[in-house]
Amino acid sequence: MKDFTGKIAFITGGASGAGFGQAQLFGRAGCRIMIADIRQEAIDRALDALRAEGIEAEGIRLDITDRAAYAAAADAVEARFGRPPHLLFNTAGVNSFGPVELSTFGDFDWLVGVNFGGVVNGMVIFVPRMIAAGGEAHIVTVSSVGGFHGSAAAAPYCAAKAAVINLMESYHQSLAKHGIGVTVVCPANIKSNIAEATAVRPAHHGETGYLVNEETVASLHSIHIHGMDPLDLARHAKQAVEENRLYVIPYPEVAEGVRKGFDAIVAAIPPMESDAEGARSRQEALANWAASRTKMFSQGRETPA
Ligand code: NAI
Repeated sequence: MKDFTGKIAFITGGASGAGFGQAQLFGRAGCRIMIADIRQEAIDRALDALRAEGIEAEGIRLDITDRAAYAAAADAVEARFGRPPHLLFNTAGVNSFGPVELSTFGDFDWLVGVNFGGVVNGMVIFVPRMIAAGGEAHIVTVSSVGGFHGSAAAAPYCAAKAAVINLMESYHQSLAKHGIGVTVVCPANIKSNIAEATAVRPAHHGETGYLVNEETVASLHSIHIHGMDPLDLARHAKQAVEENRLYVIPYPEVAEGVRKGFDAIVAAIPPMESDAEGARSRQEALANWAASRTKMFSQGRETPA
């Protein structure tokens, strides 16, 4: 997608940080913006700022883990703009850090629920609508460089972000035939308000094994104050949308760590000579299966025979 004039963009987490940067940048490029966020007062502030610079923007209060509310938000987009979005940004996310072995169900349910479950909800609710609407469309999902590594201090967050990257690779393979591009943004540090994410943690996932207090929040702020400007990150995402690229990882400092991680994975794979006959018969079985079954597994329940 190269022309953003009049395109409808739905942005989760659009009231702050990376999502607000996307709203500004894509709004300036001509998009009609719908920001969805769990915090009404932040939505109101964001809308004031966007409209003050002439961007057509609407807002909706949404907890992306609430499927019924998310479907209603998708209906609201269609009611307001007459069609589903051309651009879906799965940007909302939360974090909280502490030792993996002290993680509670509450920590997993909240962190995985928002960071992965919220993205799943966005895809299941919007993708069929976007396919049905036809035409050019693009999905931008914000994961994290944390999704490339396990982390003893950020385990549920990193597990969710790893799942997000993997899921976007699957959608990227599948949606190309519908003219829908997929981009996954993996930031390392954004100048945002994510240090305060625990403020929106719901009571029903309130039990945590981590230390969360003013000091821990302030220490996280001390990192994010040096993060990439959200507008710059949005520029990288926009370029990827224009060039229909899958990965956006605009942080040169992470290359060595990511390479080491993938090198360690590849190093665990033995050379072909270690089991050439087994490899040959497994590959042959897979190829035969693929040849006979591809059609069956690429069809959905509703597809006519
Ligand atoms: P932010 O806190 O400034 O913005 C996130 C927004 O998401 C907030 O406005 C918040 O109210 C909203 N939100 C939280 N839970 C929600 C829910 N259940 N439903 C709807 N909205 C919800 O944080 P930031 O940094 O801009 O985060 C954007 C994305 O970037 C997240 O997915 C985050 O995991 C990711 N990221 C951030 C990094 C950083 O250094 N800040 C690094 C790597 C990834």
